[in-house]
Amino acid sequence: MDKQNRQVVIAGNWKMNKNAAETTALLNEMTSIIKDADCKVLLCVPAINISTAVEAVKGSCIEIGAQNCHWATNGAFTGEISADMLKSFGIKYAIIGHSERRQYFGETDKTVNMRSLACLENGITPIICVGENLEEREKDITKDVIKTQIEAGLAGFTSEQLHNTIIAYEPVWAIGTGKTATAEQAEEVCAYIRQLLGEIFCPNCAKKVTIQYGGSMNASNAKELLSMPNIDGGLIGGASLKAVDFNTIVESAK
Ligand code: 13P
Repeated sequence: MDKQNRQVVIAGNWKMNKNAAETTALLNEMTSIIKDADCKVLLCVPAINISTAVEAVKGSCIEIGAQNCHWATNGAFTGEISADMLKSFGIKYAIIGHSERRQYFGETDKTVNMRSLACLENGITPIICVGENLEEREKDITKDVIKTQIEAGLAGFTSEQLHNTIIAYEPVWAIGTGKTATAEQAEEVCAYIRQLLGEIFCPNCAKKVTIQYGGSMNASNAKELLSMPNIDGGLIGGASLKAVDFNTIVESAK
C-alpha cells in the first residue's frame, strides 16, 4: 500500500490558545472557508473548549480532537481527563506525548504508552508525537531517539491498534521556531519510522500507518513537505490559528 492509499490527516494543535468566544469565532471562520477538503481535517483544542468547538464545527468537514488523555478511566488524578470523557463528546483523536508535555509536564515514553492504549481501548486514535531535540540532532543520534520513543511508546500494541494510530514526527528544534526541517530531513525520519514499524509489526502493517510531520509547517512550505512519499499529513501549531493559512495547508494536501 502506497501513500495514495493512506489517510492524509491535517491536524491543528491549538496548544493553550483561544478562550471560548475566540474558539467559536475562529472555528466559524474556518468552517466558512474549509469546505471541500480531500483529507481528514482536525483541530485539537484545549480540553475546556471541546464542547464549544464540537458545537461550532457541526455539519462541517472539520473534526475536533484533544491534546492529551489520561490512562485511567477515572479516579484521583486532579486536572486530568479520561478517554471515556473525551468519547462522551464524540472525540476520536487525541495528541499524545507532545514534546511540550514531555518537556514541561514530565511525560515519558511509558506514560505515552499508557495514555495511547487507553485511547485505543475507547475508540480514540492517538496521535503519538516523537522527535529529537537540537542537541540530539547535532550529536547525530536522531534515529536512536526515535527508535526508543517508538519502541516504548507503542509497546504491547497489536497490529490492529497500530492501524488505528497516527505517528507525528515533530523535531523539537523545529517547533515554534520558524525553523522547518527540510522536506528531505523530514522524509528521512518519517521513512525511518515506517521502516521501524515494519520491523516491530510487519511491513504491510507499516504501510498503512499515517505519519505526519510537525514543526513550523505553514502555508508556504506545506506543499513540498506533504509531497514526500512518507509524509501523510501535518500537525500544525501556529499556522492552525489562522483560518486562511490553515486552509492553504489543507488545500496543499490535495
Ligand atoms: P508549530 O507549527 O507552531 O511549529 O508547532 C508545531 C507543533 O508543535 C504541533 O504540535
